[in-house]
This record gives sequence, C-alpha cells and structure tokens, in this order.
Amino acid sequence: MKKLILTVVLAALSACGGPADSGADAIRSPEERGRRAFGQCGACHTAREGDASRIGPNLFGVVGRHPGEVEDFAYSTAMRDADHVWDAVTLDAFLADPEGYVPKNRMALPGGVPDPQRRADLIAYLQTLTSDPN
Ligand code: HEC
Repeated sequence: MKKLILTVVLAALSACGGPADSGADAIRSPEERGRRAFGQCGACHTAREGDASRIGPNLFGVVGRHPGEVEDFAYSTAMRDADHVWDAVTLDAFLADPEGYVPKNRMALPGGVPDPQRRADLIAYLQTLTSDPN
C-alpha cells in the first residue's frame, strides 16, 4: 500500500513537471521571445551595433529613428521618403503589412508577421537594441 501511495505521489509530481516545461515559453520575457523570433529577420538583418548592413539595413537602434537612415544601406526611395519615426506603433503596422504601410518598399517579407503577439515580442526585442540606457 505504501508503495502504491509513493507511486501515485511520484506520478503527480512528474505531471506537475510536464506543464511547467512545456509552458517555458510563457515565462520567458517578451524581449527573449522576440530575440528568438528575430531569427526570421536575421537572414537579412543584423542587429549588432557597428555591423555592416546585409540584405537589409542594420536594425541596431532602429527604435526612435526615421526610416532610411542607416548610412551604409541603399534604401528604396519609398523607405527613404517615408515620413514617420519607428516606434512600437509604426513598427507594428509595418511588420503586420510591410507593403501596405510603406508601399513600394523593398523588404521581401510576404505577408509580414501576421501574429500580433509575435510582432509585440519582436518590437520588445528591437527596443532593447540601443546604446542609450534610458
Ligand atoms: C528577405 C530579407 C528581409 C527579411 C527576412 C526581413 N527584412 Fe526587414 N528589411 C529588408 C530590406 C531590404 C529593407 C529595406 C527596404 C527598403 O529600402 O525599401 C528592410 C527594412 C526594414 C526596416 C526599416 C529599417 C530602417 O532603417 O528604416 C525594419 C524596421 C525591418 N526591416 C524590420 C524587419 C523585421 C523585424 C524582420 C523580421 C520579422 C525583417 N525586417 C525581415 C529585408 C528583410
């Protein structure tokens, strides 16, 4: 009987371990989830300060600047002429629908990032890419 109780207790304990493990994503911070999601962008963009731009411009410090401002990158006229500041709102609109938000831009991300949570995580990560502690 004692053995049976022990077995039941152990089973209950390991059942607790299960959901906690699979829920690891939920306890990860938005910035950390965004950093992982950025893998999708990393084929074209670096996010490291001082790195040369690749297929797309370096995104270090993108939050708070105007579109088209990275010096070593040859932007489309559409992106250079876009008249907004990259912040949580404009980045969300752009990532949801890159072609709709900046028509004729050259970022090849068909369909954008449809999942609002994923966009929010990406933006939380982009917001960490600054050398300004404030
Ligand atoms: C296939 C390559 C490619 C992928 C993948 C890609 N981008 Fe881009 N991105 C570009 C290019 C090229 C531009 C410049 C577009 C232009 O000049 O019209 C750009 C521009 C941008 C800009 C504007 C930057 C500035 O300096 O004004 C942001 C923000 C951006 N991308 C974010 C992202 C994010 C976030 C992802 C991932 C979800 C992503 N991009 C995925 C190629 C890509």
